[in-house]
Amino acid sequence: METSKRAFNRFTATDGAIASALFVFAVAILEVGMHWSNAGSSRVHIDTPASQPWWKNRHDNHTCRHGNATLRLFATNETASPPEGAAAGPPKLVLLWTQISGQEWFPRYGAAPFAGCRVSNCAATRDHSLIKRADAVVMNFFNVQRHSLPAYYSPRQRWVFYLREPASHTYLKVRSLRGFDGAFNWTMTYRLDSDVPTAYGAFRRRAAAVDYDTDVARRKSKFAAWFATRCPTKSRREEVVAELRQYVDVDTYGRAEGRCNQTRCDDCDWDAMLDDDYRFYLAFENGLCRDYVTEKLYRGLTHDVVPVTLGGVDYARHAPPGSYIDARDFDSVKALADHLLAVAANETLYNAYFDWKRRYVVGEQKPAPWCRLCEKLNDDGEPAKIYEDLTRWWVDDARCETYVGEQDGHMNFAPTFEVFTYSKKGHRTRRRAASLGDRPVRMSEA
Ligand SMILES: *[C@@H]1O[C@H](CO)[C@@H](O)[C@H](O)[C@H]1NC(C)=O
Ligand SMILES: *[C@@H]1O[C@H](CO)[C@@H](O)[C@H](O)[C@H]1NC(C)=O
Ligand SMILES: *[C@@H]1O[C@H](CO)[C@@H](O)[C@H](O)[C@H]1NC(C)=O
Ligand SMILES: *[C@@H]1O[C@H](CO)[C@@H](O)[C@H](O)[C@H]1NC(C)=O
Ligand SMILES: *[C@@H]1O[C@H](CO)[C@@H](O)[C@H](O)[C@H]1NC(C)=O
Ligand SMILES: *[C@@H]1O[C@H](CO)[C@@H](O)[C@H](O)[C@H]1NC(C)=O
Repeated sequence: METSKRAFNRFTATDGAIASALFVFAVAILEVGMHWSNAGSSRVHIDTPASQPWWKNRHDNHTCRHGNATLRLFATNETASPPEGAAAGPPKLVLLWTQISGQEWFPRYGAAPFAGCRVSNCAATRDHSLIKRADAVVMNFFNVQRHSLPAYYSPRQRWVFYLREPASHTYLKVRSLRGFDGAFNWTMTYRLDSDVPTAYGAFRRRAAAVDYDTDVARRKSKFAAWFATRCPTKSRREEVVAELRQYVDVDTYGRAEGRCNQTRCDDCDWDAMLDDDYRFYLAFENGLCRDYVTEKLYRGLTHDVVPVTLGGVDYARHAPPGSYIDARDFDSVKALADHLLAVAANETLYNAYFDWKRRYVVGEQKPAPWCRLCEKLNDDGEPAKIYEDLTRWWVDDARCETYVGEQDGHMNFAPTFEVFTYSKKGHRTRRRAASLGDRPVRMSEA
């Protein structure tokens, strides 16, 4: 299915934890109480609205209520229907232990996240008291605090390490990731080798070519746009932009004026700007890590604009051939700028960057991550699995880099890894960035 431009136009969690928090708040307001009947039975039906919003009893104690306990399942939509496939087998319960953020990918509660899935007899809940019934316990590492991990676990349960942030921005509220070695069974991250990959988008070849008006150059009058949502960044993408500005025009926009010299533009029609004004759109990631590519790329691809990418990924795996210009294919920022100028000056060359639209389409990952999770939970052939060395998988294999400037006309990138730790002081939680040096290092209990 073709993803609408608008779906990619929203602000995402990668750049807006606050926006996510507000979104979750909105979701919570719409919570509904539901009953979950005895295990083995498949009926889930909506009951009266729960009186307590979930954030008031986040730290519920973990006693499990047996029998036909009342569950609190939360839905964004009170008409969300019970799991379709539920009649075929006992429903699988996915317990979202911590808040999951991520806008259009937000897994609403109840049956909603699994609606339309090939295997859909799953339901999601935030109710900690259901820990003993849960088939999967999903922990968004962004929000995990060690002391708030479930006190109970069953060997048949799958604990899922969930994170959509780049590995270079692993927010740990405890000092060590080591403490989590052996705790998780599955991973659900942007990494392609995750048990459940959560890509921000995907592309596929069309069954048959379609007509597409590729005469785009004629209506373009501006050079490049950059939407800076977070600045400065660990990747130092802003320095590449600053250098690029020496050669070409880059208009920088943001929701606030900031250290990237953004022009605040609350009323801008971003869709129209990308479709009709700008030739290039800088899709520079805030983390230059293996496999980490976000909606920035797909936002560009779903408009009539050429994305200029900067990341740590092999873009050929994430975008159709001939659809983007990868900054890292060039030795220097000047060489990149020269190429952009040449493409902009030649309508034939520029329009060729839209040929792919006849043969390919971009959209959401299929199956959707939550569908994939439900499929795996229903697959009796799935072996037991433990991430004995989560640190090695998440940190050592992350391959994150930072732009360290140009030397002798070459753009240079150095391996990097950074962990943010939190310290509690009174009522305020302070964030402290602790650089672990230039190489990915194993974090130890400090
Ligand atoms: C957990 O809940 C049970 C029953 O409501 C109560 O008896 C018990 O004291 C609680 N435990 C803690 C640690 O709060
Ligand atoms: C719970 O089960 C009992 C008997 O097992 C039944 O009488 C009662 O109606 C059930 N309650 C709900 C809410 O389903
Ligand atoms: C709620 O869900 C129903 C059924 O899936 C759908 O038809 C309706 O548009 C949804 N409403 C909102 C406000 O999302
Ligand atoms: C912002 O503007 C100042 C002054 O023109 C310049 O020195 C600085 O490099 C700019 N910062 C970025 C990130 O472009
Ligand atoms: C424009 O690009 C096309 C395709 O690469 C090339 O054939 C043509 O010679 C170029 N035109 C000019 C004026 O450079
Ligand atoms: C999940 O991991 C735990 C160790 O944390 C292990 O005891 C259990 O067997 C694993 N379960 C599955 C289903 O992989």
